[in-house]
Formats: sequence, structure tokens, C-alpha cells
Amino acid sequence: MRSKEWAVHNPGGSGRVLVTKELPGGRWLEILAGADCSVEVCTSREILTTDEIKTAIGGRCDGCIGQLTEPWGKDLLGSLKAAGGKVYSNYAVGYNNVDVASATEMGIPVGNTPGVLTETTAEMAVALTFAAARRLVEGDRFMRAGRYRGWLPSLFLGERLRGKTLGVIGAGRIGSAYARMMAEGHRMNVLYFSPHANRALEERIAAYGEFLESLGERPVTCRRAETVEALLREADVVSLHTILDDTTHHLIHAERLAMMKENAILVNTCRGPVIDEAALVAHCREHPDFRAGLDVYEDEPAMKPGLSELDNVVLVPHIGSATVWTREGMAVLAASNVAGILSGYPVWQGQDISAFLEDDPPKAAPSIVNAKELRLTEYKP
Ligand code: DGY
Repeated sequence: MRSKEWAVHNPGGSGRVLVTKELPGGRWLEILAGADCSVEVCTSREILTTDEIKTAIGGRCDGCIGQLTEPWGKDLLGSLKAAGGKVYSNYAVGYNNVDVASATEMGIPVGNTPGVLTETTAEMAVALTFAAARRLVEGDRFMRAGRYRGWLPSLFLGERLRGKTLGVIGAGRIGSAYARMMAEGHRMNVLYFSPHANRALEERIAAYGEFLESLGERPVTCRRAETVEALLREADVVSLHTILDDTTHHLIHAERLAMMKENAILVNTCRGPVIDEAALVAHCREHPDFRAGLDVYEDEPAMKPGLSELDNVVLVPHIGSATVWTREGMAVLAASNVAGILSGYPVWQGQDISAFLEDDPPKAAPSIVNAKELRLTEYKP
């Protein structure tokens, strides 16, 4: 029996698509209805359990749109497959909650939602960087408590960022956008660590540096660090933009925290387990001038004991992509992944997915992460 409320859209559709949370906007529903699907949406704000999702999948389900809070491993994917499922899309760009290898073995294409989160998430990293550097949350609490008695020369002194070194770990789309915002907007010098050199980022910041020089101003620079440790030792701000997998789990642990400057700022908008959160609590407790800005947590939605008591940490509830435009765009992409595969469309190639947000979108599934492994046909414009 279903323990949560579900709403049914386009009940006459011949395909059946399950969506485990209500999504913003209305266009995504039109896309699925246009692919002749009935759409069943869970209207509860509670996180569904695996059993609840399995019950909802039932005996027949053509596709699912799920959330990063749900473990789409063998169990759930197997239920989807057994119900005749042909596609799964995460409502997220990250897909560490999906066992893609098992999905591939079962022949299930797995979609994600890249391209619409880039600037939005980078902006959140910028916001957390400044909130930590300038102690915004401490100041806010102080005001609300009625403790402000007048301007003082040393009230809530923070860190000036201009001209300092920005360490970016993971220079993919979001990391690069954040690096550019901080270099071009706030004149920080970028030091990045990434398995591959990001020449486009280096050239872009070099060109901006030349422009500044042409104005007689000090240029900004962009270099690739040889190691994570080298970056941690040198950077004044460290922002994490990696995927989460075995190689990045607890990438920032106690020994690496100890390498960072005493007054460094650590920002995490990627995935919580990239930081050993208990080690971070201990480090922030012992180093009051060290600051952190966190959007994601190791055991989301829980926090490690002590984290919420620290004044030198700014905490927000995984809202890096939470703008109306981005969340509606993610819904369009997730629905287009499911509708595209169910309609037998090929898979879009390339990074620019903006055409899917326009009227008359391409007849393609925008982003299927295991398309190559499944030898799905590529979209030829
Ligand atoms: C993602 O998409 O992976 C974000 O963490 C949530 O928007």
C-alpha cells in the first residue's frame, strides 16, 4: 500500500512515469505528457524510503525521475527494470546516489541535469565565501539579539580577499565559473587542482590579467597546482567542486586541514562526504580564525555533533542550485531525458544544453551519463 500522497497528471497517457518529488514549473509535465506519458508525482515533502519507491514503481513503470536523497542502487533499479522501466533520470547534476554500473548492466539509461546549475551553484560558493570571510551570519545573529551598541573599530573583523589566493579543487564547469567570478569580480589569483589542465580557464584569466595590466592595474593569475597539498598550503580560500567517488571521499581530512593557513576559508558546495566532517568540527573548534561555508553535509540531513555550535562556520541546507530558473531548468532536463529515451530519440552531445530550454527543443535526450556504454545513438543536428 502507498503510504504517501501521489498526484496523477495526464492520466490517459500510455506510458507511466514516476516522479518521487514535486518539481518546480509546469513545462516538465508538458514534456512528459507530449511523450504520451501519465505522470505520478509524490506530493509529500518527506524523503521516500526505498520500500516506498518500490511500492510506487509497482508492476509497471516506464521511467522514473528520482532525487539525490534516494539510493538508486541494484535494488531500486532492479525493481524499475522488472516493471519494464526503460530510463531513470536524477533530478541533479551529481549522480553519486545512482549505481550507474548496475544500471548499464540492466540496460537502463541514466540521465542527469548539467548546464543549468553552473552559475547558480558557483554564485552560492561565492556567497558562502563572503559570508564566511566577512562573518555575515555572526553579525546577523548579533543584530537580532539586540547586542549592537554602536560602531566599533574592531567589531567582527574578517578577511579581505582581493589579491589573495583562491584554491579551487575540481575545475569542471562549476569550479571554473566560481574561479572566474572570484578572479574577475574580486581580483583573486586562482590556483586550481584538477586531474586535467583547464586551458580554457587559464587562458581566460590570463586574458583578463592582460586587460587589467593594460589599465595599469595589477593582473590576476591562474595556475594549476601539482598536488592537493600544495594548493592547501598556499590558498587563502579553498572551494571544493569535485564529484563524489572513492577517490574524493574524505579528500579533506584532519592532516590536510592542518596544512591549511590558520585563517583560511573552506567552502563546500559539491558533496558532503568530500570533507571528513568530524575532523572539520575539531579543526574549527581549535582554530577560531579558520572559517568554513557549507552547503552540503556528510550525513545529510544530519550534521556531525558540534558543527551547529561553531560561530566560525556558515551553514545552509544544500541550496546551491536553488534558484527558480535553475530548478525549473533541471525539471525540464530530467523530463526531457525520460521523454527522449521513451520516444526513442538519440542522445544530445556536447555541453551546451540551452536549446532544451527554448521553444521547439531538439528531438534528443539532453544528458545520459551511460550513453556510450549503452551504445545509444548520438544526436546529429
Ligand atoms: C546537484 O544537482 O547535484 C546538486 O547538488 C543539487 O542541485
